[in-house]
Amino acid sequence: MHFRDSLTEAVLAANLVASWGQHVQDLSGVNWTLSSPAINFTVPASLPSQAHLDLLQAGVIEDPYHGLNEINLRWIADANWIYTSDPVTGLLNEYESAWLVFEGLDTFATVTFCGHYVASTNNQFRQYAFDVSSILRVCIGDPVINIDFASAPQTVNAIAEDPSSEEWPVEFQSQFPNRWFMRKEQSDFGWDWGPAFAPAGPWKPASIVQLENSGDIHVLNTDLDIYRQGNINYLPPDQDQPWVINASIDYIGLLLSHISLSIDVRGIGSGEVLTTQFSSDVTVTGTSVTGTIVLHELSPKLWWPSGLGDQNLYNVTITVYAGIDQIAHVTKRTGFRTIFLNQRNITESQLAQGIAPGANWHFEINGREFYAKGSNLIPVDAFWPRVTNEKMSRLFDAVVAGNQNMLRVWSSGAYLHDFIYDLADERGILLWSEFQFSDALYPVDEEFLENVAKEVVYNVRRVNHHPSLALWAGGNEIESLMLPLTEAADPSGFPKYLAEYERLYISLILPLVYQNTRSISYSPSSTTEGYLDVNLSAPLPMTERYKNLEPGSYFGDTDYYNYNTNVSFDYSLYPVGRFANEFGFHSMPSLQTWQQALDPEDLHFNSSAVMLRNHHYPSAGFGSYHNSSLGMGEMTLGVERYYPIPEKPDSVANFSAWCHATQLFQAEFYKSQIQFYRRGSGMPERQLGSLYWQLEDIWQASTWAGIEYDGRWKVMHYVSRDIYQPIIVSPFWNYTTSDLEVYVTSDLWDSAKGTVNLTWLTLSGHPIADNAGTPTTLPFTVGAINTTIVYNTNIRDLNFPDPRDAILIISVSGQGHLPNSEDITSFAHENYFTPAFPKDLAIVDPQIELSYDTQTKVFTVEAKAGVSLYTWLDYPAGLVGYFEQNAFTLVPGQKKHIRFVVQENHSNSEWQRDVTVRSLWDQTVRD
Ligand SMILES: *[C@@H]1O[C@H](CO)[C@@H](O)[C@H](O)[C@H]1NC(C)=O
Ligand SMILES: *[C@@H]1O[C@H](CO)[C@@H](O)[C@H](O)[C@H]1NC(C)=O
Ligand SMILES: *[C@@H]1O[C@H](CO)[C@@H](O)[C@H](O)[C@H]1NC(C)=O
Ligand SMILES: *[C@@H]1O[C@H](CO)[C@@H](O)[C@H](O)[C@H]1NC(C)=O
Ligand SMILES: *[C@@H]1O[C@H](CO)[C@@H](O)[C@H](O)[C@H]1NC(C)=O
Ligand SMILES: *[C@@H]1O[C@H](CO)[C@@H](O)[C@H](O)[C@H]1NC(C)=O
Repeated sequence: MHFRDSLTEAVLAANLVASWGQHVQDLSGVNWTLSSPAINFTVPASLPSQAHLDLLQAGVIEDPYHGLNEINLRWIADANWIYTSDPVTGLLNEYESAWLVFEGLDTFATVTFCGHYVASTNNQFRQYAFDVSSILRVCIGDPVINIDFASAPQTVNAIAEDPSSEEWPVEFQSQFPNRWFMRKEQSDFGWDWGPAFAPAGPWKPASIVQLENSGDIHVLNTDLDIYRQGNINYLPPDQDQPWVINASIDYIGLLLSHISLSIDVRGIGSGEVLTTQFSSDVTVTGTSVTGTIVLHELSPKLWWPSGLGDQNLYNVTITVYAGIDQIAHVTKRTGFRTIFLNQRNITESQLAQGIAPGANWHFEINGREFYAKGSNLIPVDAFWPRVTNEKMSRLFDAVVAGNQNMLRVWSSGAYLHDFIYDLADERGILLWSEFQFSDALYPVDEEFLENVAKEVVYNVRRVNHHPSLALWAGGNEIESLMLPLTEAADPSGFPKYLAEYERLYISLILPLVYQNTRSISYSPSSTTEGYLDVNLSAPLPMTERYKNLEPGSYFGDTDYYNYNTNVSFDYSLYPVGRFANEFGFHSMPSLQTWQQALDPEDLHFNSSAVMLRNHHYPSAGFGSYHNSSLGMGEMTLGVERYYPIPEKPDSVANFSAWCHATQLFQAEFYKSQIQFYRRGSGMPERQLGSLYWQLEDIWQASTWAGIEYDGRWKVMHYVSRDIYQPIIVSPFWNYTTSDLEVYVTSDLWDSAKGTVNLTWLTLSGHPIADNAGTPTTLPFTVGAINTTIVYNTNIRDLNFPDPRDAILIISVSGQGHLPNSEDITSFAHENYFTPAFPKDLAIVDPQIELSYDTQTKVFTVEAKAGVSLYTWLDYPAGLVGYFEQNAFTLVPGQKKHIRFVVQENHSNSEWQRDVTVRSLWDQTVRD
């Protein structure tokens, strides 16, 4: 357990486990029990865990996700839960000090050790280390650890009732009351897409750390910051500067004199040692030791997001020495990249390129602007301890398969675990990360701010080494939504609330971010109009633009939700801005997913289980949703306005068809917006990002997700995958003026060339005479991250017998370079346009045939008698994966060969036999 290396040996042996003079006992290896005044018995418990999970494991409760158990299990959130360890054996009495280290306690916990009070905690997002040396010295026998978790809803209600607590006008401070008094996942009290369980427990690992002697230390956290020399967070990095590695270790114990620090950098895969250097300047404080090296004359391979280059990774090993003794040793896998959120004013040269005035709002990777394609990540489960590496790998594989390069890690869930950032580092998924504040105003008393400050510093330092980290933002929709609501509700009180906003997100958090990272930008809120100025020596270091806007100018990023489905396809209502960071509409999950959570009798559209799991329009109170029917009504209208109405005699088949119909509407609405935002890359607004709401589900319910709880793709994830390809062709139809425009849009970094074919067919698949007056083939050249119009017309000027019996098949093929690639790549994309909405089309039975070749493992789909719209391959329950193509249009004579990518398979059967195909035709019963 205890050895010391000489300096030279240590420098060579970079992969040693840190165990100098310390004894670390992992508390997950100890047996635990769970008890509560709410139950008469104890049950075995785990660590890490939460009470719901241990009660489920012990058979005390049913699956919390089943039926209406969210409501039936409220008693768990209202009770205290006590985790008690068995006596911890194997501690070393001769060691000098002992610490209880908790990586995370959720949330209001009182810790005792050997019957002695240790501490109380109130922040889920902090790491806690408590010195228990003196207790251990007097402990008779092996110590028992007790962690008593108070009910979060009860605790925050009590805080709210305290006369010293701040009050806000209820008009705008109403969603899931009092959650703003806790530093706990805010969506634990319910959200419009998720359940309210308010779990409690030691949700992350814990250990007892013993240090042998004075001068031994234990590493709690590491801040590895890699940046271009001279970089300042809010200015563009100079790519000609050498890389700097700043390494800082947070420790417990006592550092004696003659401290030095070395940094070793080696390539993953190659193992090639890039450099090993000692820091010429080491700073030691009571809690951290920091050193810096500069990589002069060295050019590590850069890390790029998916689709833009390779994800080159390096191991950086930091070794701390006292004299010639190694006393700490940490290896972090990292990458070399700069990522910058450019919010600077539009320059003269940008104006000369035709970019509208205002300010930029886009990301730059390694000095290059790029189009950010992606979505918003919400908590993947109501209970984090059951989120596995496998689950996250499947989800992130779907992100990459979906042609996405960025996720916005929404607040207010939880700061992601390191293993999740690791998976993103490997796959090239940029993670725009946020501090956990959402859709509310928060207290600003000193105690609250101090608690937030510790949370911010810890998390910024913990995740800074991940090249996938793209941004820190202060919170969700606070500047764009909460401030205007506040001003409308209480104009005279507004200056106070605005000052409080600035106190928390600008005066407090911004300097804490900049002090702990030089490589990451900061924005006080997810959606903003950007800033006017930054002055780090001012008490308010960033002056936000707020309403200082000018017509014809564009500034920040946009958020768009419109539940009036009458206007879903009216482009003139979509926001025009520099970047779209949220937009969406909810839909039902598939029948297979509903079956995981509902009893058979609940499988109909308006069953109370289905309705009460629709949380759109939450109302006041912990997890209450009195207006479920509003959200159901919006989905119903979205279907009825545009699609054939399902009316199947079999009630389960009808339910399934309705679920599917809501997905068709959702997918089409997102596609319409994504095409619009992407086209904006070549418009005066120079729009450079589209992140839809939301990537995935936290449970089985109607939500904005594109991927269901177990990983099954909705129609929308297939459609966004298609429309996030590098080169796309898109029709833009104004159904009031009948104008039709066709654009080719590319996010490649070089111009690309190709042709667009336009083919008018009847819905039986016959060519329309003279192609309705439309040219059949048009050449195009599209610039780097740009768009070009290839065709425009007015539908009234075209000649077809019946607009209800016509479809324009639009296909593009072209050639270009993928970013960071020399090779010429061929691109193809197909789209379609109908001059009427689907419900008004004179569709015919396409007579689709599906076959499967067991040798090649390929499905073949063919439409024999007509155009198949929204062709949908469906796979049975017990399996998770995706078809290489789905939700496509198929014309007669065309055969599609499609593989299925299996991500997880629990089915024993020949599942291929249970794959089905349907199209818009099958949505409703026909004579
Ligand atoms: C935990 O409990 C199980 C079952 O009672 C027992 O077999 C095991 O040895 C215990 N583990 C420890 C570390 O005490
Ligand atoms: C506790 O035990 C008593 C007596 O055995 C029983 O009547 C009661 O229902 C139990 N309460 C709970 C919450 O299980
Ligand atoms: C990188 O570091 C990890 C963790 O210490 C280690 O397991 C791995 O072998 C290292 N890889 C290389 C190439 O050094
Ligand atoms: C950016 O432009 C605004 C006017 O829109 C101006 O007030 C501000 O000072 C400019 N900021 C910087 C940093 O030049
Ligand atoms: C058509 O264009 C007009 C003029 O720009 C606009 O007012 C209208 O909302 C558009 N309608 C649709 C359906 O896009
Ligand atoms: C376009 O049409 C031409 C002529 O029929 C054909 O050769 C070409 O493959 C078509 N391209 C696409 C993308 O369909």
